[in-house]
Parts: sequence; C-alpha cells; structure tokens
Amino acid sequence: KRVAILISGRGSNMSALIEAAKVPNYPAEVVVVIANKADAAGLAAARAEGIEAIAIPHRDFISKAEHEAAVSAALHAANADVVCLAGYMRLISPEFVRQWEGRMLNIHPSLLPLFRGLHTHEQVLASGMRVHGCTVHFVTEGMDEGPAIAQTAVAVKTGDTPATLAERVLSVEHETYARALALVASGKATMHEGRTVFSD
Ligand code: GRF
Repeated sequence: KRVAILISGRGSNMSALIEAAKVPNYPAEVVVVIANKADAAGLAAARAEGIEAIAIPHRDFISKAEHEAAVSAALHAANADVVCLAGYMRLISPEFVRQWEGRMLNIHPSLLPLFRGLHTHEQVLASGMRVHGCTVHFVTEGMDEGPAIAQTAVAVKTGDTPATLAERVLSVEHETYARALALVASGKATMHEGRTVFSD
C-alpha cells in the first residue's frame, strides 16, 4: 500500500513509519510526506530518506476547504492508498474524513476513549491514573473518536511530570504506529460501520 504521512512538526512518528517500511515484506511504502507548516522539521528528515516532502502551509489558504483541496490534490498525485496523520495539528473536515474513511489513521497520546484533545499528559497526572499510553485509530468525523487499531500502555511513575510522561509515551508510539499501519495495509484491520474489524 502507498502511504502518505501528514505532519506539522518534528515528525518522529513519521520517521518511525519510514524505518518500519524498510523492513522486507512490510505491507506499506511511504510515498509522500505533507506538512501544513513550511518549517516542519519532519520535511527535511523525509527528504534525507529520499521521500518526496511537500509543504502546503494552511496559512497560505483563505479557507480550510481550499487548504484541504490542495492537500487532497497532492495525495491523489502521489496515488496514496492510506493517509497517516502523525503529529498533524489540524482538524480534518467531515468532507475530507469521508473521502478517506477507513483509510486514514491518527496517533493520539492517550488510551482513548480517555483523555481526548490536547494536554493529555497533564490530564492523566491530574486524574491520578497509574497507567497512560497511546492509541492509533481510524479517523472519523469526531476529534479523537475513531475506532482503535492498536494501543500500548505505559506506567505513570511517581514524580512524573508532563514532560517525562510524554517522553515515555512517545517511545511506545513509534512501534504502536508501525504495528497499526501494518495491520491496515495488509487488510488485517478494517473499519466497518464505525468499528475496527480484525481478521487474520
Ligand atoms: C506526539 O505526542 C503524538 O502523539 C502527537 O503529536 C506528538 C508529536 O509527534 N500526535 P511527532 O514527533 O511529530 O510524530
């Protein structure tokens, strides 16, 4: 499967997917990286791997619809089959979601459905929970609401700060995303009527 990755910043999850796709028989290849910010560090990292990397700054467009049309054109030009949002900090419109439903993934730094939205590490610390983690899910119209494909839990440790927690979660995000993308690209995980269906 041909995979497009959308980023806004550092792109460590993007880099992890690029690495995973180098393994023989991995069922996906990364064909393009698109950033909504010209200064996204991930663009240079993708180019260093010989992968087409395009900046399509949202601030260059007068509306979300125009920006998404430009992104959509780049996705079709690359013949992408699957879109991976990785640290992509824009909300996707319902129209765009519908075009890619079942073929668009996102990674969120919490064990959904707990702690949707931003500042999840602060939310976890405030909640007193002793576990935290990340979720890769299919993107649906609601923010951070799509059915999960893969999750990994980590311990919350005494003395944790949002930064130490974020670091521990990020370290498991990379293998979680690689595992989730392989499931979707190989057809072992599909979205059906709003649920993830797993088959071997
Ligand atoms: C990560 O915490 C990820 O969970 C969230 O964005 C953050 C940055 O990810 N989606 P990356 O290093 O840009 O992939």
